[in-house]
Amino acid sequence: MTAPAKRERRPRLETFHTSRDFQQAKKSQTRPQFLQIVAKPDRAARRESKAKSERKLTRVAFRVSRLMEFCTKRELQNQTGHGIYEWPLVVLKELMDNALDACEEAEIAPVISIAVKPGSITIRDNGGGIEAETIKSILDYSIRVSSREAYVSPTRGAQGNALKTILAMGYVLDREREDADGINNEAVGVTFIETRGVKHRIQFRADHVTNQPKITHTITPSRINAGTKITIKWPVELEWIEQQFKQLAESYVWFNPHLTLRGTWHGQQFVKVAATNPNWKKWRPRDPTSAHWYDQTRLQRYLSAHVARDRDLGRNRTVREFIAEFRGLSGTAVQRKVLEDVGCSHQSLAQFFGVERVNRTGIAKLLASMCKHTKPVAPKHLGIIGAEHLKHRFLAAGGNAETFKYEKRMGVTSEGIPYVIEFAFGLHQSGLTQGAAASRKFITGANWSVGINNPFRAFGSTGEGLENTLAKVRANAGQPVICALHLASAYVQYADRGKSSIILTDDADQLDD
Ligand SMILES: Nc1ncnc2c1ncn2[C@@H]1O[C@H](COP(=O)(O)OP(=O)(O)OP(=O)(O)O)[C@@H](O)[C@H]1O
Ligand SMILES: [Mg+2]
Repeated sequence: MTAPAKRERRPRLETFHTSRDFQQAKKSQTRPQFLQIVAKPDRAARRESKAKSERKLTRVAFRVSRLMEFCTKRELQNQTGHGIYEWPLVVLKELMDNALDACEEAEIAPVISIAVKPGSITIRDNGGGIEAETIKSILDYSIRVSSREAYVSPTRGAQGNALKTILAMGYVLDREREDADGINNEAVGVTFIETRGVKHRIQFRADHVTNQPKITHTITPSRINAGTKITIKWPVELEWIEQQFKQLAESYVWFNPHLTLRGTWHGQQFVKVAATNPNWKKWRPRDPTSAHWYDQTRLQRYLSAHVARDRDLGRNRTVREFIAEFRGLSGTAVQRKVLEDVGCSHQSLAQFFGVERVNRTGIAKLLASMCKHTKPVAPKHLGIIGAEHLKHRFLAAGGNAETFKYEKRMGVTSEGIPYVIEFAFGLHQSGLTQGAAASRKFITGANWSVGINNPFRAFGSTGEGLENTLAKVRANAGQPVICALHLASAYVQYADRGKSSIILTDDADQLDD
C-alpha cells in the first residue's frame, strides 16, 4: 500500500484592486510567501498613463467675424436685450420709435398704423421716407448707420442698430424651427420696405459655415410715395404674445399727445386713438442741438462723425459751418466770437480736428467757448406731456378720476443735461368696488418711447429700482393701480444695445421721493 500522495498546497489566488492594497499585502507578515498576485492598476494611475500616451490638443485662434453677432439666437438676444419670446415686442417698439422719429424729423404729426396678420407684422408711417442710400447702408452689417447716434439730443433711436437686428430676426426664428433635422438650414428672413415709390425686398440668410449674413436685395416699383411701410415676415405664431403686443402699442399713445394710432390684429381693430394735440410742442430731431449737452468726448465723437462723412463724400466744411448748426450759434457775430476765442477762423473742420492726432486742446477750447456764448436750454423745451393728456389716457384705461395724481420734476444735471420727469398715478375703478380687481397697468419710458419692461431697474442712492419704490407705496403688480412714469432727457445712456435698461446718474435721485 502506498502512502497517499501528499496533497499539494496550492497557492491562494488573491486579487487586489488598488496598488496600495497590493503594497500593504506584500508588507504583511500574515500573507503566505507564494502569494500569486493579479493586481489591476488603480484608476488614477490608468488615467495618468493614458493621458501620457494621448496627443495634446494644439489650440488655434479661430477668427470669428463680428457680423456673426446678427445670425444666432444667442447673439441677437444679447444685441436686443430681450429673449426670443419678446422679439415681436422688440420689432414693435423699434419700428414705432423709428416711425415717430421720422415724422418728427419731417415736422409732421405722426399717423401710424400697425397690422398683424398670420405670418407678418406691418408698420406704416407718414414721415419723410427712408433714403435708398440709408437702406443700402443698413444692409452693410460691418457698419452701423444712424441719423441720431452721433448727436446728443432727446430722440428715441440712439445707436443705429435696431433695423439690422430686426432684419435678422425672421431668419433666426425660421432656423430655430424644429423640422425633421432639428435645425432648418434653408432658413430665410424676408422684410419689405416700401418708401419713396420703391419696394425693397430684403432676404436675410446666413452662410452655413461662417454664419455671416448673406443678403439678397431686390427692388420693384411701389405705390407708397409718402412715408414708410415696413413688413416683417414672421415665421412663427404670435398668438401667445397678443395681449402684451396690443398693450405695448397702446402705451405709445400715453407718451405722444401728437400721435394718431390705429392697429389691427388679424383684421380686428384693437387700437384707434386720435391725437389729443397734433400740434404738441416738443424738442424735434431737426431742432439744433445745444453745446451744453456735449462733454468733450461727445463733441469729439460728433466732430469725427462729420469729418469721416465729409471725407466719404469728398466734401470739406469749415469750423464756422460746423458751429452754425448749434442752438444759439446761427448768427455770424456770435460765430466770429467763438472762432476768435479758439483761433480757428477760416480753418477747415478736418484740419481743426487734427490730421495726425486729435486736437484735444482745441476741442476743449471750442466746447468752452460755444457754451460761453450760448444759453443752456430750459428743461421745459424738451417737451412736457402734461397732466391733461395723461389724465385723458388714465380715464380711457378705466381709472377713477378722483384718485388721479400728476407730478412733474424739471431740472438740469451736474453735467448740464436738462430733464423732465412726469408721473401719473391713480386707482382703477375696480379698485374702489367689490368687482373683479384689475391688475396694475404700469407704463414706463424715456424720450417718448415705451419700455418693453421697466427700464428704470436701478436708481437713487440705494440703486433699488422703481419696482421696490412702488412696492413701498403698495403699488406692486397685483394692485388695481394705473401709473405712468416718463423721463425726457437731452442725453439718455442705456446699459445695453437693446435700450432695455437706462443708466441714471445720481442726479436722478429724486425719483426716490
Ligand atoms: N420709418 C423710417 N422713416 C425714415 N427713416 C428711417 C425709418 N426707420 C429708420 N430710418 C432711418 O434708418 C436709420 C437706422 O434705423 P435704426 O432703427 O437701425 O437706428 P436708429 O433709430 O438710428 O438707432 P437705434 O438702433 O437706437 O434704433 C435711422 O437712423 C433713420 O435714419
Ligand atoms: Mg431705431
